[in-house]
Amino acid sequence: MLAIIGGSGLTQLSTLEIVRREVARTPYGEPSGALTFGELCGTPVVFLARHGYGHTIAPHQVNYRANLWALKQARASAVISVASVGGIRADFAPGTLVVPDQIIDYTWGRKSTFFEGADEVVHHIDFTEPYDQALRERLLAAAKAAGHAVFDGGVYAATQGPRLETAAEVLRMERDGADLVGMTGMPEAALARELDLPYAAINVVANHAAGKASSARSIRFDSIEEVLQEAMIRVRGVLEQLCRQ
Ligand code: HPA
Repeated sequence: MLAIIGGSGLTQLSTLEIVRREVARTPYGEPSGALTFGELCGTPVVFLARHGYGHTIAPHQVNYRANLWALKQARASAVISVASVGGIRADFAPGTLVVPDQIIDYTWGRKSTFFEGADEVVHHIDFTEPYDQALRERLLAAAKAAGHAVFDGGVYAATQGPRLETAAEVLRMERDGADLVGMTGMPEAALARELDLPYAAINVVANHAAGKASSARSIRFDSIEEVLQEAMIRVRGVLEQLCRQ
């Protein structure tokens, strides 16, 4: 069963034929919301809105451990993350879809491992390739089948949020080699790896990252909404093809 974690702009999957909802409990607390079980082109899918169904949970307050644990507990075999980002690279304009292949983690203070606590032996996962390559390829093939252009690869910078970045912070990330910036990619990807859940992401560029737009110096939120609304229609199209890949 495929799990889909939806971010800003994707709090529900309109194409999902909903079978049931389930409030999950985990040793790490409650996930962001009830798990929504359903079918996408005849394949079982479980959906979870990362920020809650009313978009009330800030990126640094998402209970990533409970979310991943609940999906694993529900017998998900792979996780697709949908998340909006700011584009750092010049060709990552608003509306662009990207399947990233690397991560730089700038977040802090988040519960980022299952392997801690009194009885828990420390465990170091290999994270050289943070995304599952086979799942990335399925996403890319699904995008192709859906007829939507998607960039193959990009370095995702995970920031703490909830505020957006300063222009200098974005320049630093660019010097570090980052192509996109978002607030939720970590520790989500690492926790999925700890649970042996193949994980890949489709990122939607909502805006040029701070200081990167040629016209405006500050980021306009009304245009972000518009961009996300249109782009999520394409993302849904990609997800619909995914179960056929
Ligand atoms: N920065 C961080 N996260 C984001 C952005 C951004 O510019 N846009 C959407 N998510």
